[in-house]
Amino acid sequence: MADDATHGDDPLVVFTPSGRRGRFGRGTPLLQAARALGVDIDSVCGGRAICGRCQVAVSEGRFAKLGLVSTAENLSLPGAAEIRYAGRRKGLAPGRRLSCQALIEGDVVVDVPAESQVHKQLVRKRADARKIDLDPVVHLHYVEVAKPDMHDPASDLRRLAAALERQWELARPSADLRPIQGLQRALREGDWAVTVAVREGNQIVAVWPGYRDRALGLAVDIGSTTIAAHLCDLASGEVVAAAGVMNPQIRFGEDLMSRVSYVMMNPGGDAEMTRVVRQAINALAREVAAEAGVAAADILEITFVGNPIMHHLLFGIDPTELGGAPFALATDMALTVWASELDLELHPNARAYALPLIAGHVGADTAGVILAEGPHLQDEMMLVVDVGTNAEIVLGNRERLYAASSPTGPAFEGAQISGGQRAAPGAIERVRVDRETLEPRFRVIGDEAWSDAPDFDARVTGICGSGIIEVVAEMYLAGILTSDGVIDGALAARNSRIVADGRTFAYTLHEGPPTIRVTQNDVRAIQLAKAALYAGARLLMDRAGVESVDRIVLTGAFGSHIDVRHAMVLGMIPDCDLAKVAAAGNAAGTGARIALLNRAARAEIEATVRRVEKVETAVEPRFQEHFVEAMAIPHKSHPFPNLARAMTLPAPRPSSPAGASPRRRRRRVSP
Ligand code: FES
Repeated sequence: MADDATHGDDPLVVFTPSGRRGRFGRGTPLLQAARALGVDIDSVCGGRAICGRCQVAVSEGRFAKLGLVSTAENLSLPGAAEIRYAGRRKGLAPGRRLSCQALIEGDVVVDVPAESQVHKQLVRKRADARKIDLDPVVHLHYVEVAKPDMHDPASDLRRLAAALERQWELARPSADLRPIQGLQRALREGDWAVTVAVREGNQIVAVWPGYRDRALGLAVDIGSTTIAAHLCDLASGEVVAAAGVMNPQIRFGEDLMSRVSYVMMNPGGDAEMTRVVRQAINALAREVAAEAGVAAADILEITFVGNPIMHHLLFGIDPTELGGAPFALATDMALTVWASELDLELHPNARAYALPLIAGHVGADTAGVILAEGPHLQDEMMLVVDVGTNAEIVLGNRERLYAASSPTGPAFEGAQISGGQRAAPGAIERVRVDRETLEPRFRVIGDEAWSDAPDFDARVTGICGSGIIEVVAEMYLAGILTSDGVIDGALAARNSRIVADGRTFAYTLHEGPPTIRVTQNDVRAIQLAKAALYAGARLLMDRAGVESVDRIVLTGAFGSHIDVRHAMVLGMIPDCDLAKVAAAGNAAGTGARIALLNRAARAEIEATVRRVEKVETAVEPRFQEHFVEAMAIPHKSHPFPNLARAMTLPAPRPSSPAGASPRRRRRRVSP
């Protein structure tokens, strides 16, 4: 490289979007100039016109500020290697050049597109979601290795390491036994040209003959109900295949505590659950690999998130201690082990990384949520709620973070609700109730039409969690429910959908078959669940000394389907500007993906969880107080000014004598 003062005659090269510039002698490859300036351009083949990762485009025109005229003619004409690459199936996009082949002949402004950058940012669907920078723990490098020489008796590994040092500037590459076992064959089969997967900058983990451009990693979220896996291309960050499966541990117990009980009652039960979850992960790995047209043995890295019990069972650690106070974890630290130690049938040298845990009830899944949503990077006070049978709640900003787990129970997942079911085709997921007529309309999963549309012909099978939240919130907004959660029987005279149901009333959402009614018990189950969630959030707000939060994100497989307005009407979450309340997807799974694709993120989350202040809801006396007050809809005493600005809320009213349950009325007349 030259600077302006000493080599003023040399062509000026400006890279965008970085703006880095310098003067270089004619005949310098663009990639070399970029490297000299620290411009981020990808390469696997080391400038051999094989990988196509180094593509750039010349910006044509007069750049007055830079004092130059940039034209594609100021680069050398494509040579044979570049023409050969351009003729390949993927080839070169119009206007693109291989920067490793194009030589500088005059002034140029060179644009480095996002896909050619090593540390590119991955696009996320939500605009307010944290950006993911690509910097995976494993990189591929194509190298040409010196042949063995009688006069220079260096081993294959030593010559490979020397080639990596020379061609890729890696510092002291090393290998353990496993890649060494296949090294001789790979080098000879590849005619002394191989692709090497290098972990953490210098650990050789795999060697393949010839050129290879795909390194794959798997991000796995082990939920107590489902296990989700995303197969990612480590070079592009792209999710190449995804799949989910029911957690087979369900047959040992529906919820976490019943699985711990199973272990307590059945010696060896933990080993059994460890075995089945590992089998399920192997099956998922095979499934996603087949979908991507590769083998599970091509997966070089796997990352895990999961709650503490799922985590311990995966690693073959007895979870019994987590079944009761003081909920002591065997370890809360991030773990890196051989995938083969977990009986995972991936690449023989694949490593498995599990995010750190926070506390006995707050696991690596919450660490994943923190990594994905980034409350620790915000100035604003952010509340992140992972909604599930246990709600994991995180509150904080860049200065402080608090976390708790709140036992919401399975009602939000449609369990213990009459007509409730898991989210699947046929389940009612959206509900509106007319404020005047009290007539409902709804939509079911798998059908875009609302039930009052002429073309609606979907088969209704039940109601899922998001549906039950909406119907309860809508019943409240329509005045069918009082703020203390009683179905107002006095309205039976107005609409025949309100029917006596034993000693209470129910609201008929769908005339069968199957008839779907929202009963007083259903409303109570939702009130209990939402009160637990709100009380947990409120406890963290007390601890943080704040009366309101600036931003709320609902996550979790179910959390992502909740309509945030209805969640707030119900009082599941504290009042907040609705524009700043979002439903994210599976944030824990995204956290596993970030840990797979960005190695700095591992250190970041390991350091961040150490400063999370854990709040144990079970021993906080204020929890019960908050819980009781949060039973009302939306809340007994806390105002919801943002919500009131966004919609008309019913005037608070106690249950009317006429609206009280038949049981209550009977009590009054027969003392
Ligand atoms: S660096 Fe691989 S094609 Fe240019």
